[in-house]
Amino acid sequence: MNTTTDNREQVRAKSVAALTPEIVAYIESCAQDVFPHSHLISVLHKVQHQFGYLGREQLDAVAQLLQVPASKVTGVATFYHFFRLEPRGRFVINVCMGTACYVKGAERVADKLKEELGIQFGETTSDGLFSLEGTRCLGACGLAPVVMIDDKIFGDMTPDQIPALIEKHVKLAQSE
Ligand code: FES
Repeated sequence: MNTTTDNREQVRAKSVAALTPEIVAYIESCAQDVFPHSHLISVLHKVQHQFGYLGREQLDAVAQLLQVPASKVTGVATFYHFFRLEPRGRFVINVCMGTACYVKGAERVADKLKEELGIQFGETTSDGLFSLEGTRCLGACGLAPVVMIDDKIFGDMTPDQIPALIEKHVKLAQSE
């Protein structure tokens, strides 16, 4: 075995270690296609679904295994808002900023969350507990303004309810 082959195998082993066997198999089947890059978005979706976000290691591994330039992989991952490049918090708080919620004070609820957590939309608290996102209509307009934490809906929210809601989830995390 020559040095080039050794090196190629080391790079492949590193890429495989950054993903799961299922994802590696999927990428390798996509790589057989005439246009492997046409599978890039679906590959990134699978990686994000598995890991919760797209880390540097995973992006490099996708580039290697799919044989697509790393700059292209990074470009796609950063272009689409549904891809996350940072890990999410233990709890993901979505504040509905849809029309019905907005009219009923969603912005004040969002401002209180930002103030209490010390983060903006799209950010995660430094302790890794909370990520905060603004979202479109959650389909619960009758309960406006609505906040969703993970998959649980909290309706008729007011800014003064926010500290207790956060505290409740801090305690929940401590009890895990
Ligand atoms: S606008 Fe907020 S749930 Fe519909």
